[in-house]
Amino acid sequence: MRITVVIAAILVVTCAKQLDIPIRCCFPKVWEGMMATVQIDSSGMKSSMLSVSYDFSVDRFALQDVDMKYRIVVDYSKMIQYVITSEGLCSASKVPNKELNCIPDNATFVGSVVYGGPGGMVLDKWSYKVHYPPVTAVITVTRDACVYVSEVGAGTLGGVPFYRSDEFSNITYAIKDPTVFNVPSPPCPSDQDNNLVGLSMP
Ligand SMILES: *[C@@H]1O[C@H](CO)[C@@H](O)[C@H](O)[C@H]1NC(C)=O
Ligand SMILES: *[C@@H]1O[C@H](CO)[C@@H](O)[C@H](O)[C@H]1NC(C)=O
Repeated sequence: MRITVVIAAILVVTCAKQLDIPIRCCFPKVWEGMMATVQIDSSGMKSSMLSVSYDFSVDRFALQDVDMKYRIVVDYSKMIQYVITSEGLCSASKVPNKELNCIPDNATFVGSVVYGGPGGMVLDKWSYKVHYPPVTAVITVTRDACVYVSEVGAGTLGGVPFYRSDEFSNITYAIKDPTVFNVPSPPCPSDQDNNLVGLSMP
């Protein structure tokens, strides 16, 4: 009798725990916003404020630093990233990470938090292994619309500590200026070199 009660209690707890795990949601297909980035690696610490645009229907991602010194366009259909500077230079390289438009299947649920006080925003945190740099990242998304709030990656790269944090804000669901995805050729080469670089700020 007592054993039955204990088993029932365990089942209730287990089921309740499983119900708490949110679905692996997908980000909006088109969105735009600001990204505040801090990266610490072997070359020191860099921080930047960028405007970012995603359009999954054309497999493109674009970012531009607020000082307009450079912009980056990633074409995920070709896995190429173009870095275009304000001086009119362009370089192309291979992107190592596949387009991330949903919480990855093998991501592990970390937990939920509420930003702000009562009535605040519910956020879900998921941890996954990034292909390159080979670090563990935690993605935070809003519970109600799967809006990408932040991604923090930490680990080691080339034997030294690596840390990167991307924080998104002011998100809207439209591309104000579709020319952000344009890749001018020339100066952009039609072929990429074989350097494997993460999404890196010049
Ligand atoms: C997660 O899945 C991706 C794509 O299937 C794979 O490349 C990666 O190695 C997996 N990561 C882990 C930690 O299993
Ligand atoms: C973000 O949105 C707020 C409120 O609309 C606005 O005041 C602010 O200028 C925006 N920030 C950026 C960097 O666009």
